[in-house]
Amino acid sequence: MAAIKYLALSSMIVLYSLMFLGGYISAAGLGLTCPEWPLCPDGIMPSEEYLIEWIHRLAAATTGALVVATMIAGFLHKGADAKIRVTSSLATVFVIVQITLGALVIDLKLHAVLVAIHLGIGILLFAMVLLTTLFAFRLQSPAKAVAHGRSGGGGGGGDYGTGGSGDSSSGVSRNGRGRRRNSGSGGAKMMQDAATADVAH
Ligand code: HEM
Repeated sequence: MAAIKYLALSSMIVLYSLMFLGGYISAAGLGLTCPEWPLCPDGIMPSEEYLIEWIHRLAAATTGALVVATMIAGFLHKGADAKIRVTSSLATVFVIVQITLGALVIDLKLHAVLVAIHLGIGILLFAMVLLTTLFAFRLQSPAKAVAHGRSGGGGGGGDYGTGGSGDSSSGVSRNGRGRRRNSGSGGAKMMQDAATADVAH
């Protein structure tokens, strides 16, 4: 279970650094220091001349692998719902498009439209990875869900580790008066409380 959380979080950290570096490459006018693709002229090992571009590409490859691994973990995890599968799949599509676009940016000598699209897709990719990470950290392992008495019912909260009432994705009660924690057999009582509170509201 932990795998999906840490895969998603690592994707986000590597991706953020990659985008930061991309901004630096662009602003410093280093975009064409390494004029070939996928490798720089001196092959796999980095040389000082191409170091920044080399790191950008290595980070892009690492991000690609992490994003795909997160998606696979999302499909393998029994408790994962449609949301996490959709966001991680979209992230995979965007990362593939983005890496292909990176090659085109070099090939077409930093064509302005392509560089702008490269930035735009990077932002969409970040949004999907961020959502996947948020969803992954709200997932509860099936074993814990059973231990907490949430083996199916409970206000439609699905697989997210929230209380049995109110907003299923945030754990905040619908009337906005604070969080409800689910503890063992108290779940049914909390649902009753929530229903009473909603009627009163
Ligand atoms: C997940 C993959 C990637 C992400 C998220 C990413 C992200 C970015 C970002 C945010 C920028 C700054 C754009 C700007 O400030 O306008 C950038 C610049 C750049 N990226 Fe990427 N990139 C990725 C992959 C690649 C790949 C695989 C290549 C090439 C092999 C590449 C080549 C470049 C180049 C040359 C620039 C500088 C453009 C310029 O000089 O204006 N990128 N990247």
